[in-house]
Amino acid sequence: MADPGASHDFSGVPRHVAIIMDGNGRWAKARGLPRAAGHERGVEALRRTVEAAGDLGIECLTVFSFSTENWRRPAEEVSALFGLLKLYMLRDLDRLKRDGVRIRILGDRANLPEDILALTDKAVRETAHNTKFALNIAFNYGSRDELVRAVKRIGEGIESGRIAAGKIDEALISQHLDTQGLPDPDLVIRTSEEYRTSNFLLWQSAYAEYIFMPVFWPDFGREHLAAALQTFRQRERRFGGVTPVVPHG
Ligand code: FPP
Repeated sequence: MADPGASHDFSGVPRHVAIIMDGNGRWAKARGLPRAAGHERGVEALRRTVEAAGDLGIECLTVFSFSTENWRRPAEEVSALFGLLKLYMLRDLDRLKRDGVRIRILGDRANLPEDILALTDKAVRETAHNTKFALNIAFNYGSRDELVRAVKRIGEGIESGRIAAGKIDEALISQHLDTQGLPDPDLVIRTSEEYRTSNFLLWQSAYAEYIFMPVFWPDFGREHLAAALQTFRQRERRFGGVTPVVPHG
């Protein structure tokens, strides 16, 4: 991965890009393959995208790998997705460490198997000092579930006297979300021509730009990310004001 900021002009590049990696099933179906094969190829697309994101000057990438609603899928597919997360942690951790990637996992730990928790905890722990690039994997994640968990914790804080109800503001809520400490996404990309937010980073994406792309996730790569950044650059972001604001500007 290149050294962002070294010799490139990254003005207008989003700091934080979030991706809804959609279309694995349809990619597989179009080829007469089982859905799990689409997810496997999806991991390869993820590898390409992490590499490209760093090179293109993005600081932080969040990917939606398993939603709180994905439990409704057949047990076999759920198990394939869990297996792929484990494999990704086992096969890619050393390289991610070498590339200076800090890994975070967003989502509810409840109901996740012990082996997944052990592997993801290890990855989070062993990359906690990395500062070059942030990769956040949303796994067993849903925005509404995240908000419910945050409200519960704030409620506990009020009960214990640690938080005064009158002091609740946007910053306090953000500090209780799984994305605590991360910048809000500037850009959310969804592949496969589905036009939904699907319970992904709803609070954090209040002012994000959305780009929907006609490519199934397993085919996604550097050129698609670069094209999305080009479109993003042409958007004028005013955050409710009248003056355009340029990230990295
Ligand atoms: C949506 O496609 C994709 C998912 C629900 C899972 C995304 C997972 C990966 C890209 C691989 C796993 C990565 C890690 C890090 C574990 P879909 O299955 O809904 O596709 P469809 O809409 O065409 O059926």
